[in-house]
Parts: sequence; C-alpha cells; structure tokens
Amino acid sequence: MFQIGGLIVFCGLLGQTTALLDTLPLPLDQTLLLDGTPAQDLSPTDLAGSLTDALSNGLLSEGLLGILENLPLLNILKTGGGTSGGLTEGLLGKVISVVPLLNNIIDIKITNPQLLELGLVQSSEGHRLYVTIPLGINLNVNTLLVGRLLKLAVKLNITAEILAVKNEQGKIHLVLGDCIHSPWSLQISLLNGFAPLPVQSLVNSLGSILNEVLPELVQGEVCPLVNGVLSQLDVTLVHSIADLLIHGLEFVIKV
Ligand SMILES: *[C@@H]1O[C@H](CO)[C@@H](O)[C@H](O)[C@H]1NC(C)=O
Repeated sequence: MFQIGGLIVFCGLLGQTTALLDTLPLPLDQTLLLDGTPAQDLSPTDLAGSLTDALSNGLLSEGLLGILENLPLLNILKTGGGTSGGLTEGLLGKVISVVPLLNNIIDIKITNPQLLELGLVQSSEGHRLYVTIPLGINLNVNTLLVGRLLKLAVKLNITAEILAVKNEQGKIHLVLGDCIHSPWSLQISLLNGFAPLPVQSLVNSLGSILNEVLPELVQGEVCPLVNGVLSQLDVTLVHSIADLLIHGLEFVIKV
C-alpha cells in the first residue's frame, strides 16, 4: 500500500517530530530523515501522495480496521434498524419477503476488514478535494435457512470532501465537508463457491438488507475518524495543501 518514495517524502515532511513516526510500518533510515526534502520543494504530485498516505496511516492508527470488525451489524438487523428511520421505512416498504430471513439469521461475524488504496480528486474550480476511501469486509452469515455458512465479501466507498478554511486567528485548517456513501453501491459477492438458486435469492435479499443498513453504519463510524485524522495532520503538509486549495491551484493530477 505504501510507495517507498512517498513514504520517504512523508517522513521528510514530518521532520524530527516523533509522534507520528511510531505509526509508520517500515524501519526508517535516520540519514533519510535528516536529509529529508523540505516541504516547499515538494512537487504537487508528492503533496497529493503525501496527503493520501497520511490519511491512510492516520485512519489505520486510529483503529479503523478494529472499528469495521466490530460494527454492531447483527444487533442493528435484529432490532429493525435501531435509530435509523431510513431502515425501518425501507424494511416496511420492500423487505416483507426478507423478514423470515432476518428472523433466521443466527449470527453475522465480520472478518478481514480492509482499507484499500485511497483515491484523490480535486474539484474543477480547485477549492475542494474528494477522498475516496475504499473499504472491504467479509461477512460470515449463519442462517437457519441454509445448512451452511454464507461467506460474503462486501466492498463500499466512503467519499470525504476536504476544504481549506481560515479560523478567526487567520490560521488555515483542512476540514471535513460532506462525508457520504453512494446509495445502493455495496459490492457483494459470495465467497464460498457456486450458489444454488434458493441460496442465491437469499444472498440477494441479504444484499438488499445490507444496502439499507451497512453503508450508513460505516459512514457513521468512519467520517468522525476522518475528521479526527484531518485535525492531526502534519502542519507543514496542511499548510502546503490548504494554500493551493485556497488559491484554487490544481495539484492533484488526473489519471
Ligand atoms: C470505489 O471507487 C473506485 C474509484 O472511484 C471504483 O473503482 C470502485 O468500483 C468503487 N467501489 C465501490 C464498491 O463502489
């Protein structure tokens, strides 16, 4: 996930600050640190890479994977959505056929939480960034309806908008704007092999339920985390990026 080049630049940015270095996964060569490139010499692409690396490292060190693994998915399904009005409505509206399914789910275990490579896009007027945070989990679903465990791979994207703002003291910050998921965009695939028709329709029903519940659940956990990570980013990196955003200068190269 980490490009060595990006990592070295990132370390250079951090300079002698040690707090964040603890979270870096690779052993660091001290001479690289001391000779690190000053931030103002960074090319725009390095800045974009440094930002995604820093966000990615920040999310991981804030415990993103553990949070995904411990999402209270089963509880929420069993209680008909808890506080989520959208879910209840959805359930009443179109999920009559899956109510037996819900009643027959014995257990859902979340395994293999993943953070894939972040995507970064700059808005056309140059003032905003959109970070795509691709997440994956596996679900082991135990139901009474099929005589075996269903193993599903589930993927979704959370998209976080990042803006530069000046506070009353004139200090520039990067802040979180909208933080959303696209509706009905869960990618769900069955991991344990070929599914006979009844099982496939069960998976489809389960997919509808998951689409109602899971993205909102993930968004509710991940967005505050992004906000926290943004507020702890390296000051030099924040200033370099905020400066470009405020002036609407393009620095995220389109692929
Ligand atoms: C997440 O976003 C990436 C890049 O935009 C896209 O290729 C991928 O298909 C998306 N995944 C999901 C689950 O929507």
